[in-house]
Amino acid sequence: MGRRIVITSGKGGVGKTTVTANLGLALAETGVGVALIDADIGLNNLDVVMQLESRVVYDLGDVAHGACRLKQALIRDFRRENLYLLPSSKINMDKITLSQFSAIVSELANMFDYVLVDSPAGIDNGFHRAVSACREALVVVTPHVGSIRDANKVIGLLPAYGILGSGIIVNRIRKDMVARSMMMSASEIANLLNAPLIAKLYEDDNISLNGTANASRRGSWRSYRALACHISGTQTPSYDPLSRKSILGWFNKK
Ligand SMILES: Nc1ncnc2c1ncn2[C@@H]1O[C@H](COP(=O)(O)OP(=O)(O)OP(=O)(O)O)[C@@H](O)[C@H]1O
Ligand SMILES: [Mg+2]
Repeated sequence: MGRRIVITSGKGGVGKTTVTANLGLALAETGVGVALIDADIGLNNLDVVMQLESRVVYDLGDVAHGACRLKQALIRDFRRENLYLLPSSKINMDKITLSQFSAIVSELANMFDYVLVDSPAGIDNGFHRAVSACREALVVVTPHVGSIRDANKVIGLLPAYGILGSGIIVNRIRKDMVARSMMMSASEIANLLNAPLIAKLYEDDNISLNGTANASRRGSWRSYRALACHISGTQTPSYDPLSRKSILGWFNKK
């Protein structure tokens, strides 16, 4: 059975959908089968970020209510043939029960190596449904007090959902501000939250308008590749442009 991973945060707008899309692309690049589910209530952000919105015919609600088969609702990515998206429901997601959602996630896990669930913001019904269907969680947090506080709440809730493994992704770090002690570093945030640091992602002005990292550049895309390797266990270190091992880091330290 494939791994079921929820990407969550508590606080909105911290980068869950961006991480889901780019991690999905990076995992698919390694050759494994990946399904992405947009579990955000009627807001269908993930299909926009993935540039697949014009190809949506059926959605999660149609699958849950038997209007189509799961395979009919899956959209194949145009970049990676082993990457699929199940778009968000146009109807109120509260009409999709926990068991309907979990059954869909389980069915996908029988078909794919990875199922990534893009959780809605908050810790109400949408969060409950997304986390209940998964066994692993990535908590996205930015170096801001509100985000760290909400991530702390979420991390505290995860064990009650039977989550077996979790960790944090610190997003939108600004190295200039960290260097001037105006922003907490990723490891300080991980210490504060007492959670494993899975990846640190820097503020990226080159992230495309739709939200996917620019594969032809260094920076974000390499970080996502390293994150994919970290998650799949094929490589240990997370990519850090400030690290002495990277040429870019060497220049930055000059
Ligand atoms: N590392 C980054 N550098 C620059 N911009 C980023 C980065 N990560 C995310 N963003 C931008 O931040 C915005 C919010 O990101 P995103 O939609 O992924 O957040 P979210 O947590 O899914 O939001 P919501 O809670 O509303 O679902 C987007 O415009 C996205 O492009
Ligand atoms: Mg989102």
